[in-house]
Amino acid sequence: MRKKIVAGNWKMNTDDEEGLSLFSEIVNMVRDEKKGDQIAIICAPFTHLKSLVQLGSETVKIGAQNCHQKESGAYTGEISAKMIRSIGCEYVIIGHSERRQYFAESDELLAEKTKIALANGLTPLFCIGETLDERNNGNFFEILRAQLDNGIFGLDTEDFSKVIIAYEPVWAIGTGLTATAEQAQEVHEFIRAEVSGKYGEDVAEETSILYGGSCNPKNAAELFAQKDIDGGLIGGASLKSRDFTDIVKTFN
Ligand code: G3H
Repeated sequence: MRKKIVAGNWKMNTDDEEGLSLFSEIVNMVRDEKKGDQIAIICAPFTHLKSLVQLGSETVKIGAQNCHQKESGAYTGEISAKMIRSIGCEYVIIGHSERRQYFAESDELLAEKTKIALANGLTPLFCIGETLDERNNGNFFEILRAQLDNGIFGLDTEDFSKVIIAYEPVWAIGTGLTATAEQAQEVHEFIRAEVSGKYGEDVAEETSILYGGSCNPKNAAELFAQKDIDGGLIGGASLKSRDFTDIVKTFN
């Protein structure tokens, strides 16, 4: 059975005090709602990670939102996968569309980041997604295929099996415009078929594929009910403990 996952991405929000208080609320509320086999993750700003790991629990796991592609060295201002893992953090988002768009992160760079994350024992949440133009042009399946091929399909099977994929249509992120359950399912099915073509059906069946983009307590149930949607990567709604918990509860 593949894992059901709800991951929050706080992006560049909350100061230290706000982050600790929001995380404590989420841990307390999620504790009563989460099923045993389900995973809840909060991906917080770097400055919060150590405190959250210390506060953390079996209930809510901690992730970073990025890592550098090199092991160590003269890269002023950067944070390595090893540093993130060394404080007990278990997950890292790689290839979020905001990194691709604002920091010009290419598929090839993201492939390096994924490898170094895995080599250091972090589980990557690898994001792919098309822009509105790409969707309207009708070539979005090719775009998504290229993001998979160049980003994570160079991994060997053992490493690939550890990766969580997140499909986030760029046009749905922070816009209030959610992909319909049918649109999301169509892409998730495509992604699983691509994984199956590359790594085989057994691996594809075990790969968790999350949906992200204006996911909220009102639309989560319909999205998560789709056969190839295994949970969500939640932005705005993860900044409200009640909303995040209600999304987690959707699986119950
Ligand atoms: O990482 C999360 C996604 O970018 C979705 O963000 O839920 O605010 O649309 P959103």
